[in-house]
Amino acid sequence: MCGIVGFSGVRPAAPVLLDGLKKLEYRGYDSAGIAIMGDAGISVNKVTGRIANLCEKTHDGADVPGFTGVGHTRWATHGAPTEENAHPHLSNDGRFAIVHNGIIENYIALREELIKDGFTFQSETDTEVIVHLLEKYYKGNVRDALIKTTNRLRGSYALGVICTEQPEKIFAVRESSPLIIGVGVEENYFASDVTALVAYTRNAIYMDDGEYAELTKDAVKVFDCTGSEIKKEVTRITWDVQAAEKGGYEHFMLKEIMEQPAAIKATIAPRLKDGNIFFEEFDISADELKKIRKIVITACGSAYYAGCSGKYALEKLCHIPVEVELASELRYSDPLIDKHTLLIVISQSGETADTIAAMKECKERGAKTLAIVNVVGSSIAKLADYTLYTWAGPEIAVATTKGFTTQLAVLYLLALSFAEKLECITEEEYTKYMGELHTLPRHIQQAIDMNSKIPKLAKKYHKSSSLFFIGRNTDYAVALEGALKMKEISYLHAEAYAAGELKHGTIALIEDHQPVVALCCNPSIMEKTLSNIVEVKARGAEVLALTFRNNQKILSTADDFLFIPNVDAVFSAAIEIIPLQLLAYYVAKENGCDIDKPKNLAKSVTVE
Ligand code: F6R
Repeated sequence: MCGIVGFSGVRPAAPVLLDGLKKLEYRGYDSAGIAIMGDAGISVNKVTGRIANLCEKTHDGADVPGFTGVGHTRWATHGAPTEENAHPHLSNDGRFAIVHNGIIENYIALREELIKDGFTFQSETDTEVIVHLLEKYYKGNVRDALIKTTNRLRGSYALGVICTEQPEKIFAVRESSPLIIGVGVEENYFASDVTALVAYTRNAIYMDDGEYAELTKDAVKVFDCTGSEIKKEVTRITWDVQAAEKGGYEHFMLKEIMEQPAAIKATIAPRLKDGNIFFEEFDISADELKKIRKIVITACGSAYYAGCSGKYALEKLCHIPVEVELASELRYSDPLIDKHTLLIVISQSGETADTIAAMKECKERGAKTLAIVNVVGSSIAKLADYTLYTWAGPEIAVATTKGFTTQLAVLYLLALSFAEKLECITEEEYTKYMGELHTLPRHIQQAIDMNSKIPKLAKKYHKSSSLFFIGRNTDYAVALEGALKMKEISYLHAEAYAAGELKHGTIALIEDHQPVVALCCNPSIMEKTLSNIVEVKARGAEVLALTFRNNQKILSTADDFLFIPNVDAVFSAAIEIIPLQLLAYYVAKENGCDIDKPKNLAKSVTVE
């Protein structure tokens, strides 16, 4: 949930670290700090709140001279977001400063032990035990001390360390938290995410669990847990600097909404060749597919809702039963999973702790694992038997948009490819759905273009104390995601209900002027949802319907409208969500919310 950076070079470290931290701010933004190796030892600056405060405090780094340093942006877990709890943390002897992303599960026992040894603690964090262990184990060799220290830790960590005894070096360790080394010219770096590196270098080394790195301005060395040096591949980062910047948009979220036609195209097009679907990374035969008795999809948050939407396409086209499970539940549910299960794991970041744990649990039970992931080299991508990347580019806004729709695009590709291999659909159907996949980017662009009235609608609905989202089947799955978008960025209470369930309780909440967003994009059940619209209107609700422009029955019943182009319901979820993303965005804007960094949230949830 936090972001860490490290730098060693021939220019001042602080401005580079501050710039990197700004790029990582989406990972956590309640406090921040940097530690710079100066002539008189380590100098630490910390602030509560945003990186902007740290820039102000240090005059953009000019006040802290030095060519080596580490930085941190925090999403508080252990201890409130105060300056004391902000990283970097210093050892009692002032020799070490560390930054940490992750959780140390056994920190209480370690803290007691260290207090008995005479160490004093300045913070309530789990992290501080690490820096005192380093001091305890340091006998003249930092690498040895790091290995001894990490051998005592249980949990997840990406660590950055500087030590006064080797002032030109930065040290890094990875265990279950992302860490990437940037290889530059006369300078080297590490960071939690490539977005912090692309302004400086395109050459990256993805660290694996249990690896230690030592970086100076001219050298990058990686070691295994015995301290032996290992050779690592340098990978070229394909994202460019603009991809991680706002490019004239007021918010990353709006930019990312607008990028969806291109992101979907980048995800689909390379996999469509000569009228066939082709996965370089996952070539499953018809015989292997026939052995799969069920598909289980697991994920968290929006990625889970992508799974709920994708279930309809998979079941309809391939006739394989699909269960969609929240990863945080699946991991503790003693799941009925074996080697005949295909586990599809969905994650934008590839680092979500619950998703990783659920995946490990299912792998142990023999499931084949297929990951749908956006971040190259992330933990989930490394753990899975097969990985299909969503080529959405960096997603910076905390609320996912293009991450979600590209996940759906991959699920649609899978559904159609499996259906063809299993011979569950006719040739005409196959051609028709292929056509839908080809036109998906264009339809998403149309859904953006057709809804220019949303800013005006937002002015009407932003003052509501709550919003209901209703729909059936895929419409219901999209309603769940639409309500989540609304909640997380506008802080309005929003709840999604399966439309047919209203009369089993929820309708009691409908009163005059209660806004109800009704999704009606599936012709086979349109009449049913229409009845629900009539029911809520009869009780005073104000209905904002999401439907096709030529849907006369809905147009003559609802009060306001969001539109999508006429598309087949099997792949419509990726289009339906577009107006709902825009609605949430403009409602949040009306309410003056911090759209890209909603309160209490962080982009990558690497803690349970
Ligand atoms: C909501 C949102 C979250 C994530 C969830 C899973 O807008 O972004 O609900 O979808 O935290 O994250 P990933 O996909 O990174 O595993």
